[in-house]
Amino acid sequence: MTFTATLAKIADLAAQYPNNISLQCFDPIYFSTLPEADKKRLLQCLKSGIENPQSEMGCYACQPSDYDDFRPFFSKALAAYHKVSDTAKQVNDWSLAHVQGLPKGGVLDLSDLGLPALSMRVRVGRNLADFPLPAAMTQTQRVALETRMMAAFEVLMADPAYGGSYYSLTPGTPNTIDTQTYQDLVDAHLMFKDMSADSYLVSGGLAAHWPHGRGCYVSSDRRFIIWVGEEDHLRIMCMEHGTVLNQVFDRLKTALDVVSGIDGLSFATSQDYGFVTSCPTNLGTAMRASVHIPLPKLTADGTDSKAKAIAKPLGLSVRGAGGEHTPIGADGTVDISPSARFCITEAQIIAALYKGLAKLKAQEDSAV
Ligand code: ADP
Ligand code: ARG
Repeated sequence: MTFTATLAKIADLAAQYPNNISLQCFDPIYFSTLPEADKKRLLQCLKSGIENPQSEMGCYACQPSDYDDFRPFFSKALAAYHKVSDTAKQVNDWSLAHVQGLPKGGVLDLSDLGLPALSMRVRVGRNLADFPLPAAMTQTQRVALETRMMAAFEVLMADPAYGGSYYSLTPGTPNTIDTQTYQDLVDAHLMFKDMSADSYLVSGGLAAHWPHGRGCYVSSDRRFIIWVGEEDHLRIMCMEHGTVLNQVFDRLKTALDVVSGIDGLSFATSQDYGFVTSCPTNLGTAMRASVHIPLPKLTADGTDSKAKAIAKPLGLSVRGAGGEHTPIGADGTVDISPSARFCITEAQIIAALYKGLAKLKAQEDSAV
């Protein structure tokens, strides 16, 4: 398609889909100022939003420098999604000492809210600075990234604090797992779902060459996990059944410091935007802190509609029991996490989960 035809299509779709942020933020005048190669790059970022016009965000960065190189577009899209100013800057800070209004000693114990032990998880997205982002990788680059990570996992496996194994989906390697093992890991929430079934990731190019270069590292206690080759190069997470949110949060910070100190792993950052991620929704902290919590009253109709309506003003997102775009669990279990990732610190995110759950529990208790 010519640039003229693509611009006409964007204008037409923008008129039909007012909730697609990327289509709304696309400015043909700014586009016309770009050299031809950059025009192609910017349109590549918008491809998933054009092919899936019902998208909310509607774009993925393709190179770590895209947010800075195409700032006139991305700053507007970030402002619209994260409801911040278009000159907003990210500050990263894991110290709970800088967060107001926390329980004594900063211990975020869910049992103090009257909640039982829950499955707690904190993940961050990270991308290596010296590869294109997943939307623009060749198959060779995907496999090279996995090989780089396998060397890093050797360091973790040799450390008694981590140990564990690497499971690869790349066909024909010594670490390749069979379909059943893959499904068991997905069901245990340790491994990510088939990316080739996600139309946003397919259109954006992030699912290309599936399952080459994909896999996951799992520590020997199965509580520290690193995904390789999903929406971001790496998704690094801690997961545990319990009540003290600090346990997963603190362990993740410690482990991240270890991982980022391993030779060959330099994470992509932007001076103003913090940690670079494929999707602008994750930019900044790239952190999602969640619990799996049964809300039987708020989900009594078998859907998450009521829970979503109540969670939204509390700054919380509701996902299904299998993650994004999945249904709620049979007993009304949902995945609750603070929605904010950008222009918020990591410490504020974990505190927002604790404070939000206190309010959500009150709503669940008083629901009829
Ligand atoms: P992401 O969290 O990386 O944005 P998803 O929402 O798709 O991606 O979730 C990925 C996986 O993590 C899914 O299997 C989901 O059920 C699981 N998960 C998320 N939060 C929790 C939790 N608190 N406890 C257990 N599993 C969780
Ligand atoms: N690309 C989709 C959209 O624009 C999903 C965005 C949020 N989810 C994500 N996994 N990044 O609506």
